[in-house]
Amino acid sequence: MRRILFLLGLQALASASQQRQVFQIPSAIQNKTSIAQFTSTSTPLDAPKVHPINASAFEWWYFNVVSSDPDSLASVIVTFFTSSQRAFPVLDPSDSVLAARIWVSFPNGTLAQAEAFASSATVTTASEGANSSGDWHGTGFRWTKVSSTYTIEIDALSVGVKGSIVMQSTAPAHLPCGAVVEGETLQVGPHIGWANGVPDAASIVNLEINGTAFTFEGSGYHDKNWSDQPFTTHVASWYWGHGRLGPYSLVWFDLLDVNGVEHVSAYVAKDNQIVTASCAPQSIFVRPIGSSYPPVMSTPNPTGYHISLDLGDETRMEVDVNVLGDLSEPNPAYAGFVGNMSAWIVGPPGTRENRAELHGVALFDQFKLIE
Ligand SMILES: *[C@@H]1O[C@H](CO)[C@@H](O)[C@H](O)[C@H]1NC(C)=O
Ligand SMILES: *[C@@H]1O[C@H](CO)[C@@H](O)[C@H](O)[C@H]1NC(C)=O
Ligand SMILES: *[C@@H]1O[C@H](CO)[C@@H](O)[C@H](O)[C@H]1NC(C)=O
Ligand SMILES: *[C@@H]1O[C@H](CO)[C@@H](O)[C@H](O)[C@H]1NC(C)=O
Ligand SMILES: *[C@@H]1O[C@H](CO)[C@@H](O)[C@H](O)[C@H]1NC(C)=O
Ligand SMILES: *[C@@H]1O[C@H](CO)[C@@H](O)[C@H](O)[C@H]1NC(C)=O
Ligand SMILES: *[C@@H]1O[C@H](CO)[C@@H](O)[C@H](O)[C@H]1NC(C)=O
Repeated sequence: MRRILFLLGLQALASASQQRQVFQIPSAIQNKTSIAQFTSTSTPLDAPKVHPINASAFEWWYFNVVSSDPDSLASVIVTFFTSSQRAFPVLDPSDSVLAARIWVSFPNGTLAQAEAFASSATVTTASEGANSSGDWHGTGFRWTKVSSTYTIEIDALSVGVKGSIVMQSTAPAHLPCGAVVEGETLQVGPHIGWANGVPDAASIVNLEINGTAFTFEGSGYHDKNWSDQPFTTHVASWYWGHGRLGPYSLVWFDLLDVNGVEHVSAYVAKDNQIVTASCAPQSIFVRPIGSSYPPVMSTPNPTGYHISLDLGDETRMEVDVNVLGDLSEPNPAYAGFVGNMSAWIVGPPGTRENRAELHGVALFDQFKLIE
């Protein structure tokens, strides 16, 4: 009897600790071996996936919203980093790995950004509802997830930003090669971990930036990426983006590693169900318009992209993405954009009736890291 009670007690403890986990992350670069997780487990997607953060490691909790108004260039990106600058050289040099950063493009395309460094960070995860939270202490930046809604609260008067972003997920989470299940790869490319918790979300942005009200509604997105190796060790170039096209939510990834091998991830959802989620080589092609492929640092930024996606049953989605606004200052290695999209669903040869034209908005970026 005592033995049974003892076992029950242990079980209760185990399930309690599975339900809620608290991760405290220091701001200093750790002089240790970083262990990165590259296979999915039952751990919630928002749990840290690389630990500790040494000078080669980076991890991001990334959120954005792009306006659904095709006449507006409004967008916002908020990122919570646990990243050393050496591992991800696009960051500003700092001794702290805990930057919280916001980038905005106003409706007229004017850019603004701000960054604050935390003294420490706390991430919590819970298995119930996959709830999570992140608090970058001292910056005024935090997020909370309850059920399928993320709220990012910003009270960062030192950098002139105050308000909230609320994102209600409308498309199922996915991993590089498919739906979220245990035992799947988390690598979208060599040593690049990626988990897309929110491919699309009905989102409301309600911010005040240095006294200017900045409010809009749009398509939201959340993912995280991580590695135990510097970003430039493995990646030569990449194209990534997300958007909403009529009833469809779209996420694309097409990257070239330093050995010239192409790695892709394709995702389309409709009515809160996955239509396709795949990393098969033929599942998606993303190619620049107005520039050459493969991209190197000296190739100009494209004016858009053509994306061809396999939806199964001999059906493809052909998407034209058109750059409308820049989200970054000129930089040969990195460019972020907002734009509009048009798409056609093309059925098997001879079937013309399911050929529908779709329109929408997107937020996307590219890296070119080699010459
Ligand atoms: C790591 O090593 C560097 C250089 O030796 C040192 O400056 C730094 O304080 C160390 N960091 C920690 C967290 O021990
Ligand atoms: C960080 O840890 C990884 C192992 O996962 C190791 O390959 C790398 O050399 C370490 N970096 C530093 C700067 O110690
Ligand atoms: C664009 O919008 C921002 C924010 O409202 C404003 O500060 C800026 O003056 C505008 N720029 C132009 C060129 O109208
Ligand atoms: C707000 O203004 C301050 C002072 O000019 C500036 O440092 C900061 O970057 C601004 N914030 C944003 C988000 O543009
Ligand atoms: C976690 O999510 C569930 C919904 O699945 C909700 O009922 C519960 O209150 C949440 N817990 C916390 C601590 O927010
Ligand atoms: C992480 O992912 C976001 C969006 O998916 C992307 O903008 C960013 O450049 C990525 N960073 C790294 C270091 O992989
Ligand atoms: C984007 O919008 C512009 C202006 O309305 C239009 O001319 C263009 O065809 C659109 N492009 C795509 C790919 O939807």
